[in-house]
Amino acid sequence: MDDKYRFVLIVVVCTAFQFFAIRTALATEPATIFNTKCSSCHTFGKGIRVGPDLKGVTGRHPRPWLIAWIRSSESQIRRGDPAALALFRQFRQQRMPDHELSDAEIGALLDYLAAGGPSKDEDRRLRLAAEATPDDVRLGRRLFVGDTKLASGSMACVFCHAVSIEPFRGGTIGPNLSEVYARYWDWALDQRLKRPCLTSVSGSSAARVAEAESFALRAFLRAASSSELARASGR
Ligand code: HEC
Ligand code: HEC
Repeated sequence: MDDKYRFVLIVVVCTAFQFFAIRTALATEPATIFNTKCSSCHTFGKGIRVGPDLKGVTGRHPRPWLIAWIRSSESQIRRGDPAALALFRQFRQQRMPDHELSDAEIGALLDYLAAGGPSKDEDRRLRLAAEATPDDVRLGRRLFVGDTKLASGSMACVFCHAVSIEPFRGGTIGPNLSEVYARYWDWALDQRLKRPCLTSVSGSSAARVAEAESFALRAFLRAASSSELARASGR
């Protein structure tokens, strides 16, 4: 009897974990959403295109308003929301389409805009992991496991970290990185990869990974996240 309940409990817990794994991994990166769904009509800091410049927009409206607007500007206008009506009057000839994005995706997109993401990506021409080729992913893997040395001479990630797509190896000093890409995305992960994980281990204050190494490692960690998603959803 006890065992039966324990079994049911395990199934429930596993299903809940799977659900969360799918939800996080399915989300599209904010930079990709901005580039593919918004930048045709909006600039970030370069003035009005079809719609308003989105630089500073997270300071112009409360977050719940922005979420409602991005999901369906049409409904906001029809509800008679004053800020929506003002925009509608100002940009009379143009309408913003509704977007089928999840709360998590819109949330991440707003964080990305609030952090000045689009202009930072452009200034630094941060290459996004989504643009990586299979060769970039392979280089990332080699850097991760130490087959190719990091230019800074830092220790290979595999000494302290495991990832699901590199089974049977990987240390446990640091957390498992299988889904880390889906939590940090490119910009924050790039920053995270540049500074050493354990400051006491590295004597140097120079960046741990170079630009190209960061790109390859992010590409590898992104591939790990996608394969985690495939596994969780049984594909
Ligand atoms: C086809 C063009 C078009 C696309 C694509 C588009 N928008 Fe818009 N957006 C507009 C227009 C036009 C306005 C001005 C209000 C109106 O007329 O609907 C606007 C207004 C906005 C506003 C209010 C800005 C302010 O200054 O108050 C936000 C926020 C916004 N858009 C976000 C987005 C996001 C995020 C995306 C991508 C997910 C997006 N838009 C995609 C055309 C577009
Ligand atoms: C000497 C052991 C060690 C090495 C080598 C190491 N890490 Fe870490 N890493 C850690 C530890 C411990 C943590 C957790 C504490 C922290 O956040 O700093 C961590 C945290 C992280 C995080 C944040 C994880 C999270 O869940 O928020 C990322 C990302 C990361 N490491 C990536 C890497 C990458 C990529 C490499 C190889 C370039 C690497 N680490 C090499 C020990 C290491």
